[in-house]
Amino acid sequence: MEHKGTKILTTARLLLRPWREADAEEAFQNWMNDADVTRYLTWTPHGDISVTRALLKLWEEESARPDTYHWAIVLREGNELIGDISIMHTDAYQETGSVGYCMGKAFWGRGLMTEAFREVLRYCFEEVGFARISGSHAAENIGSGRVMEKCGLQIEGVRRQDFRLLLEDRRVDIVDRGILKAEFLSQ
Ligand SMILES: CC(C)(COP(=O)(O)OP(=O)(O)OC[C@H]1O[C@@H](n2cnc3c(N)ncnc32)[C@H](O)[C@@H]1OP(=O)(O)O)[C@@H](O)C(=O)NCCC(=O)NCCS
Repeated sequence: MEHKGTKILTTARLLLRPWREADAEEAFQNWMNDADVTRYLTWTPHGDISVTRALLKLWEEESARPDTYHWAIVLREGNELIGDISIMHTDAYQETGSVGYCMGKAFWGRGLMTEAFREVLRYCFEEVGFARISGSHAAENIGSGRVMEKCGLQIEGVRRQDFRLLLEDRRVDIVDRGILKAEFLSQ
């Protein structure tokens, strides 16, 4: 495979495009400062918009790199910024990467992340040439597990108590999932 980077992608309801620093206000308002969104994630709510701005400046700089796959998710109707999806830890020799995503609470439960992830998988397998995409989620994060399941990622194992939540003093099991190129193309 040859890296192709954060190409603009569209679906029926969504535009997936590179991040820019100017997105900070909307991202902060819609989810980056919401503890319900970050509950199972590896970061905590930003607290102040300056944190969001600094992060998005970095993401904008990274967006030109061919080995970066990181999209802002925008609702086509109304042009609202609603979430984030990326393929991380990419390796061109191994032809592998792993997904990460999150979205503002107001937009949950409408099939939007499934729609975004399916298109990202299509791009990764059909256009870039990845052989395998993996994903992990807290076992109790049912919504995230469903998104991966609906997109065809099979359960490959469970890491018992492998993650300590950042804002609650308890450990949770992590489910590892994956999908192969041939499986995606035969769906
Ligand atoms: C996980 C997340 C991205 C899902 O996005 P979404 O757009 O709501 O997902 P979809 O609507 O495409 O699919 C969610 C599915 O989970 C189901 N679901 C969600 N919460 C559920 C619950 N508590 N119990 C049972 N099913 C649940 C929905 O019904 C839907 O399934 P269905 O289509 O079969 O009805 C979103 O909730 C989110 O951003 N969460 C916070 C960040 C996060 O946890 N990211 C993932 C880290 S691994």
